[in-house]
Amino acid sequence: MPNDHTRRTVFRFSAAAAAGTAAATRLGGAAPAAEATARAVPAGSSVEITLSVNGERRRVAVEPRVTLLDALRERLRLTGTKKGCDRGECGACTVLVDGERIKSCLTLAVMRQGAEITTVEGLARGEELHPVQAAFIRHDAFQCGGCTPGQIMSAVACISEGNTGSDAEIRESMSGNLCRCAAYQNIVAAVADAAKEMGR
Ligand code: FES
Ligand code: FES
Repeated sequence: MPNDHTRRTVFRFSAAAAAGTAAATRLGGAAPAAEATARAVPAGSSVEITLSVNGERRRVAVEPRVTLLDALRERLRLTGTKKGCDRGECGACTVLVDGERIKSCLTLAVMRQGAEITTVEGLARGEELHPVQAAFIRHDAFQCGGCTPGQIMSAVACISEGNTGSDAEIRESMSGNLCRCAAYQNIVAAVADAAKEMGR
């Protein structure tokens, strides 16, 4: 996924947050404010941050080591974003950050201040489902539903990236999202149909 942080990046950042060392500079320009926050906060302490989620600014107290996934689910009670593997392998935790999909278990909440975060709860407009959500229902593109919020968020990005020229292209673009129920055929059909509906 584009702009996705690797697990190693997260570990580096967490270590720097705990030790207050200059190791965080290895992150480059990714999150200077978060880096400064981490340095200023003793290990085990929380810091209050503001996250912009689904168009709302939300204040939340988190330790610098808390992932965006845990901040969303456990602090903000936005449990639509699922925790599957918690190590960057399944895609169940996919959200959009400034329009790009990321695995929220691989990024820290403090690094995402100032970004616009969209979760599956932010897609529908009142009673009107997002075209991708509607297409997933039309095509019966889920069984247990465990992977579905992540699949839907990834599909929204796949479509906006223009990766829907063929089933093979959709499969490739969605390959970071696993489905243990193997509903892949229906998922691809839903993404293709939603793309058509959205004029992409
Ligand atoms: Fe994040 Fe599996 S929970 S990739
Ligand atoms: Fe069950 Fe995908 S629908 S894991």
